[in-house]
Amino acid sequence: MITVSVITKQYGKRIAVEDMTFDVAAGRINGVRRPERCREVEHHAREVIEVLMSRRISSTVGSIDSVLVGRRRSRPDSAAQVARTARLKKTIIRREAVMRSQRQHAAMGGDGNSTATAGSTMRAIVQDTYGSAEVLRLARIIRPKVADNEVLLRVHAAGLSRGSWHLMTGRPYLLRLGFGIRRPKNPVAMGDVAGTVVAVGSAVTRFSAGDEVFGFGKGAFAEYTAAREDKLARKPVNATLEQAAVVPVSAITALRAVCDVGNVQQGQKVLITGASGGVGSYAVQLAKAFGAQVTGVCGTTKLDLVRSLGADHVIDYTRDDFADGVHHYDLIVDIAGNPGLSRLRRALTPTGTAVLVGGEEGENLTGGMGRQLRALALSRFVGQRLTGFIPKESSIDLERLTDLIEAGKVTPSIDRTYPLDQVPEAMRHLAAGMARGKVAITV
Ligand SMILES: NC(=O)c1ccc[n+]([C@@H]2O[C@H](COP(=O)([O-])OP(=O)(O)OC[C@H]3O[C@@H](n4cnc5c(N)ncnc54)[C@H](OP(=O)(O)O)[C@@H]3O)[C@@H](O)[C@H]2O)c1
Repeated sequence: MITVSVITKQYGKRIAVEDMTFDVAAGRINGVRRPERCREVEHHAREVIEVLMSRRISSTVGSIDSVLVGRRRSRPDSAAQVARTARLKKTIIRREAVMRSQRQHAAMGGDGNSTATAGSTMRAIVQDTYGSAEVLRLARIIRPKVADNEVLLRVHAAGLSRGSWHLMTGRPYLLRLGFGIRRPKNPVAMGDVAGTVVAVGSAVTRFSAGDEVFGFGKGAFAEYTAAREDKLARKPVNATLEQAAVVPVSAITALRAVCDVGNVQQGQKVLITGASGGVGSYAVQLAKAFGAQVTGVCGTTKLDLVRSLGADHVIDYTRDDFADGVHHYDLIVDIAGNPGLSRLRRALTPTGTAVLVGGEEGENLTGGMGRQLRALALSRFVGQRLTGFIPKESSIDLERLTDLIEAGKVTPSIDRTYPLDQVPEAMRHLAAGMARGKVAITV
C-alpha cells in the first residue's frame, strides 16, 4: 500500500491535488474499488515509481509522498513500455512488503529513532543528492546482502573523515565518476567501521560470526554493512570499537606516507603539516614510534593536542613559517595547508623527501591533484624527492596497525563521539575545521 499525492494537470495547468492510497494488487484506491481511475493510475505506474526511485523515498518509514502527473496518453504503450511497466509494478509490490514490515515494526512500538531492528530493515543515514550536511537524513532501509567474499557486520561505530565529507558533497567532481554523476549510487556512504560479524559469505575464511573487526564498510553510517573480507582486520584487543572505527583510512594513509613512501628512519628530522587532523594525529605518533624527531604544524588552538601526541616541536602556522630557511627536514609529510612546492623544497634538506598527502586546495574538479602531479614531474629534475601516493584499503595494512596499537605505539585520538542521528552535526563540526584528531559515530 502506497500513499501518493496525485497531481492532475490539464494543458500543463495543475487542476487537482489529492492524496490517494494506491493498492496495486487489489486494484483499489483509498480502499474503494475504482477500476477506471485505478487503470489510469496503473497506466502511470512508471512515473510513480520513477519519482519514488529518484527520491529513494521508499526507504523511509511511514507513508510515501510522491507525485504522479496524471496526463492522458494519446497513443497506447509500446511493447517495451508495457514490459517496463510490468517490471516496475513488481518493484512496487516488493517495496510494499518493506512498508508492511515497517508498519508492523511501528505497531510494535518502534520508530525511526529506535535502536531496535525490524525484520530485514535497519536505520541508516542516507543521502539522495550531493550537498552540505542538510542532504543527510535518518531513514529505515533494507539491510544489505553479502556476496561470497563479504561479511555482514553489525556496526557499533563508524569513523568520520575528510573522505566522508567528499562523498557527501560530491567534490572534487572527479570522484563522481566512481560514486555517481548526479547523485550518489549508494545512498549510504562507504567508510570506516568497527563492529561484530553476524554472517559470512561462502568464500570467507578469516572471520566467523561473533568476531569483532574493523575496516572499510560499503555503507558506514548504518546499523549493518557488508564489507569485503580483504578490507577487514581483527579489532585490536586494547582498543574500544569507537577507537577501532576511527583507524582505517586516516591511519593507513599516515602509515603509507610516513613509513612506506616516506621511509622514515631513526633520528631523522620529520615535519608534519596538518598534524592536528585525522591523518596528522596518526602521522605524528608513527614518526615518533619509528624514532624520528618530529615537528608538527597546526593552528594555535591545537598546539597542545599535537604536543600530547608526542611531537618534539610544534609550529603555529598562524605565527611562524616552517619554511624559514633556517630549519631543514629529512622528511616532510604534507597533509594540510597547501604549501607551494618551492616552500616545501626550501624546508627540505638537499636530499630530503616530501610526501604530498592532501590539502583541500579549494579546487573543485580534481581537489588539488595538480599539485601532486607537478611535484612528481619536478622530482625528476632535482636532488630532493617530491612524491605522492594513493592508499589501498587493505587488510594487511589494517593488521600492521592492529600490531602497532596493541604494542602501545599508536592510540587513536578521538575528539568527539556523536550518535547515528547526529551525523549531520558531526559533519558540520569536521567541515568547520573544529575536529581535533578524529570524530567517531556510535551506532
Ligand atoms: N592521499 C590520500 O589518499 C588521502 C587520504 C586521506 C586524506 N587525504 C587528504 O589529507 C588531507 C587531510 O585529511 P584529514 O582527514 O587529516 O583532515 P582533517 O581531519 O580535517 O585535518 C586537517 C587538519 O589540518 C589543519 N590545518 C588546516 N590548515 C593548515 C595549515 N595551513 N597548516 C597546517 N595545518 C593546517 C587543521 O587544523 P588547524 O588548522 O585548526 O590546526 C586540521 O586539523 C585532506 O585534504 C584529505 O583529503 C588524502
